[in-house]
Amino acid sequence: MATVAPATAQVIERVAQLKRELAQHNHNYYVLDQPTITDGEWDQLFHELLALETQHPDLLTQDSPTQRVGSKPLDAFDEVMHRIPMLSLGNAFNDADIDNFDRRCREGLDLGDVEIEYACEPKFDGLAISLTFVNGVFVQGATRGDGAVGEGVTENLKTIRSIPLVLPAQHRPALLEVRGEVLMLRRDFAKLNDRQAAKGEKLFVNPRNAAAGSLRQLDSKLTAARPLTFFAYGIGAVEGAAVPSTHSALMDWLESMRFPVARQRTIVQGVTGLRDFYQRIGEARTALPYDIDGVVYKVNRFDQQQTLGFVSRAPRFAIAHKFPAEEATTVLLGIDVQVGRTGAITPVARLQPVFVGGTTVSNATLHNEDEIRRKDLRIGDTVVVRRAGDVIPEVAAVIIERRLTDAPVFVMPTRCPECDSAIVKLEGEVIARCTGGLICPAQRKQALLHYAQRCAVDIEGLGDKLVDQLVEADVVHTPADLYRLGITALSNLERMAEKSATNLLASIEKSKRTTLPKFLFGLGIRHVGEATAKDLAKYFGNLDAIMDANNAQLLQVHDVGPVVAQSIRQFFDEPHNREVVEQLRACKVTWPETQIEHGRASHGENAPVGNAGADPGLFSGKTVVLTGTLTAMSRDEAKDKLEALGAKVSGSVSKKTDYVVAGAEAGSKLDKAVELRVAVLDEATFLAMLARP
Ligand code: IVH
Repeated sequence: MATVAPATAQVIERVAQLKRELAQHNHNYYVLDQPTITDGEWDQLFHELLALETQHPDLLTQDSPTQRVGSKPLDAFDEVMHRIPMLSLGNAFNDADIDNFDRRCREGLDLGDVEIEYACEPKFDGLAISLTFVNGVFVQGATRGDGAVGEGVTENLKTIRSIPLVLPAQHRPALLEVRGEVLMLRRDFAKLNDRQAAKGEKLFVNPRNAAAGSLRQLDSKLTAARPLTFFAYGIGAVEGAAVPSTHSALMDWLESMRFPVARQRTIVQGVTGLRDFYQRIGEARTALPYDIDGVVYKVNRFDQQQTLGFVSRAPRFAIAHKFPAEEATTVLLGIDVQVGRTGAITPVARLQPVFVGGTTVSNATLHNEDEIRRKDLRIGDTVVVRRAGDVIPEVAAVIIERRLTDAPVFVMPTRCPECDSAIVKLEGEVIARCTGGLICPAQRKQALLHYAQRCAVDIEGLGDKLVDQLVEADVVHTPADLYRLGITALSNLERMAEKSATNLLASIEKSKRTTLPKFLFGLGIRHVGEATAKDLAKYFGNLDAIMDANNAQLLQVHDVGPVVAQSIRQFFDEPHNREVVEQLRACKVTWPETQIEHGRASHGENAPVGNAGADPGLFSGKTVVLTGTLTAMSRDEAKDKLEALGAKVSGSVSKKTDYVVAGAEAGSKLDKAVELRVAVLDEATFLAMLARP
């Protein structure tokens, strides 16, 4: 048998230090809600301790964090009889219920108009459990069960890092039963569901279900892998210790024994104090690290609690004041799709109207097709709908047990419900999109603004508000319609003076003389930004060549990868889009053909026309503003480079600015650029443009 090396003083100290640190980090994470290290760093400390304990088994103690990994699976849970029954609470749903509760307490205590002191705390939405400590050592834990008899889940509870395994030396009564709630923090729930999704396993509906499922595992090693926590809110039987005389003092006492207790607990006077507390916690609800379903009020003095006593299975001295439920079940009647401003297709659940989170919900976004598959939603399913705070309602999960046998699966439509163009999903993307960029009513405003912006064909004076008016008055459907506008149509618009109408017509007229890159960019093809438009123009030289190019040809262009190529192909494969391009040409939108760079043969009417459209340099004659921090060079260097290329570098953003180069932590200048619709270059694009003058 291998002999065990005696531990040196150094090792002994390190083991003690690791235990202290791990305990402190657990406290920071679960109690203070302020983790100071990452999960990975925690694991590292944990494994260091585990290794030292394996080498020196004599250093292993019962309260070591390494003792929380779970033990042998059980065949069944033991029955545990509670020494003192675990009761439940009466519920209050409105102010009148609370007034009645307070009045009954005052009457029961013969207090007349004297205000009662109440202890207030959050009502945790988890599972009630009871923990038994004998001489300071955690020996047994049980669920509430029917209140008289619960299930012995001791091994599972030992895996919960925030439950002390041994109480501090000064607090070791012969017997102490601590009662509270096991729950899962929201952030842990999100991480758990991410892991489940990655493994292709079933998602949990909410933290409560995840906590319940995790606590009732016969194999405690499985529970150990689930991030549960605990909050104490009371006690059961006690022997060998003087119990404080108020609930609030009891909570402080439990806290001094290192039990997590709610940070939001307070003492208030009378019914106005209760109302204020309800209001305050209601407002803080969504920001709490865990789910709550209300608040609990308890008469603070134990002697008064005793006088008031119990009715059937609930105390008279305490009540739960519930918040509106954040979840409800209803039926998924159907799935429609909506088209967004950018052509993104979003499936939307049509629901049997249900009251949840304080409003009636009849629709909920389903985000995308993958999400529907992941949740395995079928039409006709009974689903859990969730609406927390001001967050938009969502379908949290399906109740599979209630599925009808022939429930149909959702199939993404192939044509846009707004414009009948093809719906496609680019490789590697989760969002399906309508390809009718130029003609889709849902995308109309966006398409027009994009077409008119300065780095596209540049129609001065055609901004947000005007586009809204033109689209709403139903006079402009596609960019080509802009060129058919007359003074009468414009003058009919609200707040449009004749002078502005004339000016606008002049700038529309002016925009007819553009360049191929600007025109191409203006079409709003997904993934075709200014730089790509320039590359395409340079490579192909004329628009028809681009419209007819196959994938392989497109891939020859600098910086065009499979996704961009696919997107260009899909755009021009849509006959509606080609039609608008033809209309624009018919309206005499023209450009000089670009000089071909890559030896592609030119043909017919689109032959290159000498140097007329040659690009003198991307920055030549442009006004550029630098903002934020660049990593590749200093701002002065960037300025020198730009000026050498013929740019003017300016300190402030105005309508005259051509580009804003935004480095890291760009601030108000970037905001201004966005507001004025000035082209913004990130550092990578800027560097790429510098490299290709
Ligand atoms: S005190 C006599 N305090 O609510 C019952 N319960 O509806 C004493 N709960 O079973 C319970 N947070 O699981 C109390 N701060 C809190 C609570 C709380 C959640 C749960 C508990 C109880 C249920 C009663």
